Amino acid sequence: NSIETASFSWSAPSNIALVKYWGKKENGDQIPANPSISFTLKNCKTITTVVVSSKVEKDTFSFDLLFEGQPKEDFKPKIQKFFERIETYCPYLKDYHFTIDTQNTFPHSSGIASSASGMAALAMNIMSLEKAIQPEISSDYFYAKASFLARLGSGSACRSIIGNVVAWGKNETIKNSSDLFGVEFVNIHSNFQNFQDTILLVDKGEKQVSSTVGHNLMHNHPFASQRFDQAHDNIAKIVSLLETGNVTEFMSLVESEALTLHAMMMTSMPYFILMKPNTLEIINRIWKFRNETQTPICFTLDAGANVHVLYPENVKEKVLQFIQDELVGYCQNGQYICDEIGNGAQNL
Ligand code: PMV
Repeated sequence: NSIETASFSWSAPSNIALVKYWGKKENGDQIPANPSISFTLKNCKTITTVVVSSKVEKDTFSFDLLFEGQPKEDFKPKIQKFFERIETYCPYLKDYHFTIDTQNTFPHSSGIASSASGMAALAMNIMSLEKAIQPEISSDYFYAKASFLARLGSGSACRSIIGNVVAWGKNETIKNSSDLFGVEFVNIHSNFQNFQDTILLVDKGEKQVSSTVGHNLMHNHPFASQRFDQAHDNIAKIVSLLETGNVTEFMSLVESEALTLHAMMMTSMPYFILMKPNTLEIINRIWKFRNETQTPICFTLDAGANVHVLYPENVKEKVLQFIQDELVGYCQNGQYICDEIGNGAQNL
């Protein structure tokens, strides 16, 4: 099938890792050094519309990029690189001119990485184009390949395609797991249904270390092999906790993973401290509140200073009150985002 012109539109969410991806295999094409697993989010997402029109001259990639309706030149090299990386898997890309119009539901430069949601949304649109050219492709193939392409854009993006809980990276526990794309993990206990993630925006500044640089610091890292073994063990543990609904142990594991991620950055060469004083204040307040009230609540962190506060839906009111009373003061401009576990990308 050849198509003249078509328009596609997808939203894709961000995700928050429970067991963290940190480190890539050397000489690989975005192959993770260890398996990871994440909650898919619902509200923090990228919405991307792609208009394609066939072109005569097929030697180069051709695209325009709009961010929130305005031309955005500085994102272009990223897209160019992404197209180059995926071209072997999508040989039709040079046949079309792309107008890519994208926006995020979360505030611009909030310190929330938009690379996962952004690359996932773009990958879904490219798969819609592929489906238009080749209508016979199956739905399973469509989603698996979307995740595969998203991975080549930004590793963790492959966990933003489909499912509430998504694992990426070959491991012994999850039988259908792969280094090449994310797989939906389905045996989740009802205790984790509608799990909440309130994201406290501690520092909205530019990241001190890009994740590309960060992943590379795991090469020759003194604790790399122990860390990668630990991630495999933690996948086995968290899978069992997600299945049995053991929220208390789940929370210890998730917090330990967050601190381990930061410990890796603190012990690399060069070394980084990505937490801010307010990150630590928040963590201590969460621990105190948990001890005093026995409320199931924990934190996790990305490669930055913001804090994700995770808790079950049935304590939402109490936790939001606590956040209002005690944590908002530590957020930049008092800003936080209420999110919860979601389902993945949506065709709009
Ligand atoms: O997808 P990347 O390359 O931006 O790496 C993301 C790494 C962490 O967010 C720190 C952990 C994770 O598994 O998402």
